[in-house]
Amino acid sequence: MENEILKNIKSRRSIRAYNDRQVADTDLNMILDAAVNAPSGMNYQTWHFTAIQNKEKLVELNRHIKSAFAKSEDKHLQERGHSETYCCYYHAPTLVVVSNESTQWWAAMDCACAIENMFLTATSLGLASCWINQLGTTCDDPEVRAYITSLGVPENHKVFGCVAIGYAADNATLKEKVLKENTITIVR
Ligand SMILES: Cc1cc2nc3c(=O)[nH]c(=O)nc-3n(C[C@H](O)[C@H](O)[C@H](O)COP(=O)(O)O)c2cc1C
Repeated sequence: MENEILKNIKSRRSIRAYNDRQVADTDLNMILDAAVNAPSGMNYQTWHFTAIQNKEKLVELNRHIKSAFAKSEDKHLQERGHSETYCCYYHAPTLVVVSNESTQWWAAMDCACAIENMFLTATSLGLASCWINQLGTTCDDPEVRAYITSLGVPENHKVFGCVAIGYAADNATLKEKVLKENTITIVR
């Protein structure tokens, strides 16, 4: 019989289409509990988790991110910035912004540990999830910063990732995943 944790790890996938059903408070609390129980360098736990479940506020956040993209020199980002339909969080009903002080070089790693804990807990609850990276590059844009500050992201924090959570839409598709070979070396 396969180990339960490994089964959970292998069944987690990134989902990029959600329906409107909101994540229950009990489920969100379990996911956030998993986040704060992750390991952190020197056990500093300087991270912060800002969970947004308000649809209008998420739309507004996406608008500010697009506005930052529109200012970019990068053509691809400019296109996203001007797109009517682009939604970086795939219309998920819940988005958790994961931020940390950037004074320690391992700040991003602390956040990544917490994020994987959230993904695995969401998976175990039958919820879909996906890493959303667009605030990582835009959180210091003045317009974006003012907005995330108003939502509760600490001003001295950088955003290292966001977690979209919800229920997979009926039309959600999974990208094929092939594991790369030769990525493991065991020395005995
Ligand atoms: C650091 C990091 C950043 C990512 N950023 C995004 C993102 O912004 N948008 C997205 O749709 N997926 C994002 N992903 C998800 C990856 O594309 C996904 O994990 C990968 O394709 C493997 O698929 P799986 O998660 O279904 O196993 C990110 C994943 C990681 C680890």
